[in-house]
Amino acid sequence: MKALISSLLCVAVVVPVSTFAADLARGKQLFAERCSTCHGAAGAGDGPVAASLPAAMKPRNLVTEEMKFAKDDAKFKELLIKGGGALGLNALMPGQTDLVEADLDSVIAFVHSLKK
Ligand code: HEC
Repeated sequence: MKALISSLLCVAVVVPVSTFAADLARGKQLFAERCSTCHGAAGAGDGPVAASLPAAMKPRNLVTEEMKFAKDDAKFKELLIKGGGALGLNALMPGQTDLVEADLDSVIAFVHSLKK
């Protein structure tokens, strides 16, 4: 009985969090504010800053290109927190140390939604 109650509680707590943690509209807003200057408004790696960068330092095209490091959401989150430099990628890719977990999840969900 105790197990049943705690598993019911678990469902009540876990389901809303996992369903609503990633907010695409919020992710889109954060992407526009923090990522689009380099990665472009639609993630194609063509933001205003990208034009002035040498070929070897281009921001990733998040729509079509393979990830080097951020192959799953846990690694993607690590990249967003630490930035590229700490992970052997280009240090231009900045860390987002001020974003809370739900915001990181929202940005990641938005980036996934850009994929063709
Ligand atoms: C100042 C420019 C700049 C900004 C701002 C920026 N990035 Fe990047 N990003 C880069 C560069 C340059 C790379 C390529 C790194 C490399 O390949 O060495 C990159 C790479 C990436 C990658 C590919 C990582 C991999 O494993 O291959 C992802 C995903 C990414 N950025 C997401 C984001 C997100 C999401 C934001 C906003 C929160 C963001 N970036 C903001 C410049 C930027």
